[in-house]
Amino acid sequence: MSKTIFVTGGAGYVGSHCAKAFSRAGWTVVTFDNLSRGHRDLVKWGDLIKGDILDQAALSSAMKSVQPDAVAHFAAFAYVAESMTEPELYFRNNVVGTMNVLDAMLENQVSHLVFSSSCATYGISNDLITETTPQNPINPYGRSKLMCEQVIQDYSAAHGMTSALLRYFNAAGCDADGETGERHDPEPHVIPLAIRGAMDGSFTFNIMGSDYDTPDGTCVRDYIHVTDLADAHRRALEYLFAGGESDVFNLGTGQGCSVLELANAVSKVAGKDVPRVMADRRPGDPPILVASAEKAKDKLGWVPQHSDMETILKTAWAWFEQEQTRD
Ligand SMILES: NC(=O)c1ccc[n+]([C@@H]2O[C@H](COP(=O)([O-])OP(=O)(O)OC[C@H]3O[C@@H](n4cnc5c(N)ncnc54)[C@H](O)[C@@H]3O)[C@@H](O)[C@H]2O)c1
Repeated sequence: MSKTIFVTGGAGYVGSHCAKAFSRAGWTVVTFDNLSRGHRDLVKWGDLIKGDILDQAALSSAMKSVQPDAVAHFAAFAYVAESMTEPELYFRNNVVGTMNVLDAMLENQVSHLVFSSSCATYGISNDLITETTPQNPINPYGRSKLMCEQVIQDYSAAHGMTSALLRYFNAAGCDADGETGERHDPEPHVIPLAIRGAMDGSFTFNIMGSDYDTPDGTCVRDYIHVTDLADAHRRALEYLFAGGESDVFNLGTGQGCSVLELANAVSKVAGKDVPRVMADRRPGDPPILVASAEKAKDKLGWVPQHSDMETILKTAWAWFEQEQTRD
């Protein structure tokens, strides 16, 4: 059945890929984004309402005009390092912003929410992380996302909403059709930075920390293709539309890749070296974050299709090559 999805943050990296997946599912998409960190030209699937989730009145009135069946809430700040130096930005935009989204949903009788949570809510855990692994975030970004989860769970229980909290591990790769991709400035993510190293001989890729307690001393992460994330969001919405109860799901592959392995994989795909230096640790980074995503498989039928490292890097490479020729 046709549905309308109100997508906060749909002009950003993950939100724009999800907007494409929702549109492909036959749903109407309306993006609500203040373009603070997103891009007008990545809003290709449905209309854009330019607005700020911190402006409660504007948000609620936009939701009233759209009358959505569900909200997919991506709008947030998401840089760990920035959150260490400017935590106030993170608690305001992420936590207050999420409360505003929930209040607007209540005002407009919208009862389903899919929320972008993060592996950063877990903190330090060297084992495969399941949804019941204790959440002890070690940076303000992770704490802000954990607070959002708690607020959403309490609103859902009190007001009869249903929510899917999706804890993504490291979003990676870009749309295989080259229709959207990753564009952050400054870019904090390792794959775009390693690719920049290979594309631009004058750029050196910093490996932030080589003395972690990991097999090669560099951080280990679980990279999940953004198109697989988008598929999980569509499935989570279908689950909620079918009457599924509120739940939380990890989205990852179960496979860890170290930053050093990643730099070597980029060199292989690029056919050239990634100039690199071993730099200091970045404050707030846990050594290892790898998901068990068995629950999403069991309950949502979600199995990543694009998250092998070669596909991730080839789709990202093609996108950044295209970005070099953008006006
Ligand atoms: N990228 C990842 O690896 C990753 C991992 C885990 C969770 N997440 C979460 O996924 C979501 C999307 O991340 P992303 O990487 O696409 O980030 P992004 O910065 O590319 O996109 C965020 C979007 O939200 C918009 N936005 C921010 N504050 C806003 C506000 N106050 N009002 C309206 N719009 C606002 C920005 O303009 C941008 O378009 C975030 O909630 C993030 O915490 C991302």
